Amino acid sequence: MKITIDMGFGTKAIHAGNRRNLYGSMGTPIVPAVTYEFDGIDEAEAVFFGHTPGYAYSRGGNPTQSVLEEKLAFLEGGESCVVTGSGMAAVASCLLTALRPGDHVISSPVIYGNSHSLLGEYLTDFGVEADFIDLSDLEQLKAAIRPNTKMVYLESPGNPLCNICDIEAICTIAHGANKEIRVVCDNTFATPYNQNPLALGADVVIHSVTKYINGHGDVIAGAVIGKADFIKKVREDALLHMTGAAIGAMESYQILRGMKTFELRMLRHNENALAVAQFLENHPKVRKVYYPGLESFPGHETACRQMRGFGGMLAFELKGGVAAGKQMLKACDLCAVAVSLGDADTLIAHGTTMTHDDCSEELLKTIGITPDLIRMSIGIENKEDIIADLAQALDQVTAG
Ligand SMILES: Cc1ncc(COP(=O)(O)O)c(C=O)c1O
Repeated sequence: MKITIDMGFGTKAIHAGNRRNLYGSMGTPIVPAVTYEFDGIDEAEAVFFGHTPGYAYSRGGNPTQSVLEEKLAFLEGGESCVVTGSGMAAVASCLLTALRPGDHVISSPVIYGNSHSLLGEYLTDFGVEADFIDLSDLEQLKAAIRPNTKMVYLESPGNPLCNICDIEAICTIAHGANKEIRVVCDNTFATPYNQNPLALGADVVIHSVTKYINGHGDVIAGAVIGKADFIKKVREDALLHMTGAAIGAMESYQILRGMKTFELRMLRHNENALAVAQFLENHPKVRKVYYPGLESFPGHETACRQMRGFGGMLAFELKGGVAAGKQMLKACDLCAVAVSLGDADTLIAHGTTMTHDDCSEELLKTIGITPDLIRMSIGIENKEDIIADLAQALDQVTAG
């Protein structure tokens, strides 16, 4: 069956990349083999040197993984994709492929904490310089670009405050200054259902596939998507030789199964999160809500331009501060007090003790994470039940 770019997202999520296999089975076969047999040296040489497609050793790929890679590349509009053993493996493999000592990276403090420490601490030890600026301020970006700048690394919406970057404007500035600057966008919060950074000019997209793409909270995985030559280097240099953080066939299969309902899940995440954000915004015990779908949110206009929906992530602050937050989280029943995001279940987490526990006070201040910040990943339960749980939990808040 031919899948074309103009087909609907749901059709593409189900069918893109699928291959007719030996048995004609509808589900993608799970091929757990570590090694592959050759007919002789000629065939081995052709595969090892990339003259014919094939598999040799599953750290470099397996047939189940290949279907997932083709599907994700198609959904993001990229030439190629490599799937990894975690989102952090995707981040690390991309950065290790693209950066060398003496290179400079511009990023934002509002990114996933471990990506921030990889860029700001660990890679610094290997001679990579990083500046963290407010990427919503394009003048700051222009001023930060140096002759050795090789990458702009961003998340939009950013973790955890959902900050919106104008991806197209950032790409225009970065590429205008130097064509060698790669704009890398972690699209985990938005997902390809809501946003395609490559279409906005980005060079590389990263995903924690652990989150919405798998969607069922039972697999850790990541992906890097972009131009075929770059992805080949990520696979063959970083993944095979540096991180070794490959994904297994079983996990690839679980993600493929989860993706059959990707569009349905995202429709519901978007609808539920907007309803919860509006409920919280109008609640007398809530001081501030961070959600790109709210008109009051500073990045709302840009989000409307570059996103098809606003996603399932939001954050908020309570008027009663930390004490109120503790009371609220203790009182939640349906909403599970847990980190991570993108699951079918609604998850609620405290910023400074849970999602950003290892950040210094200085960094928390720079990011804008107050001690009373609460982050939510709105699930796909019925929105009335999520709101009812939050309402009863807020009723039990006496602090403030
Ligand atoms: C935006 C973002 N990128 C990357 C990661 C890392 O993904 P993983 O946990 O799959 O390694 C996370 C994890 O929470 C994340 O939120």
